[in-house]
Amino acid sequence: MCGVVGYVGENNSVDILMDGLYSLEYRGYDSAGISVIENDSIITFKSEGKIDNLQNIINKNKKIESNIGIGHTRWATHGAPSDINAHPHSTARLSLVHNGIIENYKDIKDKLVKKGYKFISETDTEVAANLIDSLYDGNPLIAIRKAIEIIEGSYAFAIIFKDKLDKVYAVRKGAPLIVALGKDGKNENFIASDISAVLKYTNKYIIMDEENIAELKKNRVAIYDKDLKEIKAKVSEANWTLEQAEKSGYEHFMIKEIHEQPKAILDTIEPRIVHGIPDFKRDNILDENFWTYFDRVYIVGCGTAMHAAMIGKRLIEDNCRIPVECEIASEFRYKNPILTDKTLAIFVSQSGETADTLAALNLVKERGCKSLAIVNVNGSSIARASDYVIYTYAGPEISVASTKAYSVQVAIMYLITFKISLARKLKNEKEIKILIRNMLNAIDSINKLLDMSEEIKKLCVDYKEVGSIFFMGRDLDYYQVMEGALKMKEISYIHCEAYAGGELKHGVISLITEGTSVVALAIQEKILNKMISNIKEVVSRGAKVLLFAKEGMNIDKDAYDKIIYLPNIEDMFMPIASIIALQLLAYHTAVVRGCDVDKPRNLAKSVTVE
Ligand code: G6P
Repeated sequence: MCGVVGYVGENNSVDILMDGLYSLEYRGYDSAGISVIENDSIITFKSEGKIDNLQNIINKNKKIESNIGIGHTRWATHGAPSDINAHPHSTARLSLVHNGIIENYKDIKDKLVKKGYKFISETDTEVAANLIDSLYDGNPLIAIRKAIEIIEGSYAFAIIFKDKLDKVYAVRKGAPLIVALGKDGKNENFIASDISAVLKYTNKYIIMDEENIAELKKNRVAIYDKDLKEIKAKVSEANWTLEQAEKSGYEHFMIKEIHEQPKAILDTIEPRIVHGIPDFKRDNILDENFWTYFDRVYIVGCGTAMHAAMIGKRLIEDNCRIPVECEIASEFRYKNPILTDKTLAIFVSQSGETADTLAALNLVKERGCKSLAIVNVNGSSIARASDYVIYTYAGPEISVASTKAYSVQVAIMYLITFKISLARKLKNEKEIKILIRNMLNAIDSINKLLDMSEEIKKLCVDYKEVGSIFFMGRDLDYYQVMEGALKMKEISYIHCEAYAGGELKHGVISLITEGTSVVALAIQEKILNKMISNIKEVVSRGAKVLLFAKEGMNIDKDAYDKIIYLPNIEDMFMPIASIIALQLLAYHTAVVRGCDVDKPRNLAKSVTVE
């Protein structure tokens, strides 16, 4: 949801800012722009559309000699994607980029117009630029401080001032921003929405606390608190590598990330399996009562994280006999959820920055409930706001459509389920050890699924022209088809509907006619016969069914048009493996249809607005 970068150092700022923007393009690609200081003037380039458009404009220009600047890649909120609405937004004295939404922009704008300020764009960001300009008397810290006291909403700003030729300023609230420090004392410093944008140059960074202001010079970073007193900030070191944030020979990040799943899952769970049983001490959950005090669980998230939450609900309810509510964060935050001191609220998020999930977490905190976050990005807002955090170690996920982040979230759901079962003495250590061994076997079989990529690719030709696909599954497969359908919608733009196998006949079957495409999962053995009956209901109405079943299953030939047999894994762990097949199906379909797989239209990876 908009990417922000900034640089001050001794190298060419244009190259470094553009590098950063390419890495952040997953956050939005409606427009891009940079402002750099050359000699004593600010030069701005911007363009509607993807970053390549901006690069083309820069290439056509004479080479810029600049060591300082800011950049932005936009996911449009206020104002359509256009050159004029593209960031940076500038006044005579400063240039500014912004990620977030200024909610009271209209009030501020009206006041500024009365003062004689002119506006050329439709953005809320231009209001911030003019507001800071109106408060500027030569001290950027004071102007920024005064401005953020007025601004309501969320922001990560990077700002350069025409009369402060050697400095970049940054401040954030409700939107992510880090300050990264030049490696080995190198004379350069950076600002970025996330560390992946600057991994090429450094892995040392400071997570900005809300409303603190950063002042970056090439040889010094100063962080100021709300009283404008300089404070000592904690420097963190990212363990993500540059290779993880690059395509490394794959055609797209998505297919690379699909292939990274076995490693990502093992990286996530192995440190939390001690002597064969789940152990969350490394996550600072030291009190064993943590796993027994609650009598109700909420699991909250958005998008793909929500689907991982659904698997979690099912696992915990089935195995631990505790009621679990699964809630979409944007709904949860405006409800009056039943929260008591015996409620555990779990928040699932890859980015740790999703605005609705963060707001839902804040609601739970206000009500005094314990919160546990399952988050992939270290030091992200959700991770920092929750009482406990279990980090997933998927590494950077660049493709907008989430794959490996989902798998690691699901893997953690299994471990949490086993931990609760053990703590509540519903299962003994021996039983848990067997379950964990079976889970590890399931993870092992992901490699077999990855080897089926070419086989699945061949099937996708069938979807080159289709307008819609129905997905169906029952039991745990139902959650998988929801996620599989979401993947397909996100990246191939095919209208998909996911249904529980038994539910289709209660309405939606009216849409099944001769040749309608259906993808069905019939993997859960205990419900196999019922599922096959449901599939036959659509086959007999003309549906063309692509069926995913499990090796060794004896399936009637008249239950499908095409069939793929997935490795034989215990039902309970099948979600770990089966989702890979659906991810591959969506990926290859999107490629066949010529879609921009990693940057699907209208989407952004991290949604930091409501
Ligand atoms: C966006 C992304 C989805 C993601 C969702 C939740 O909509 O496009 O892929 O699942 O946000 O993101 P989170 O970072 O909270 O998991």
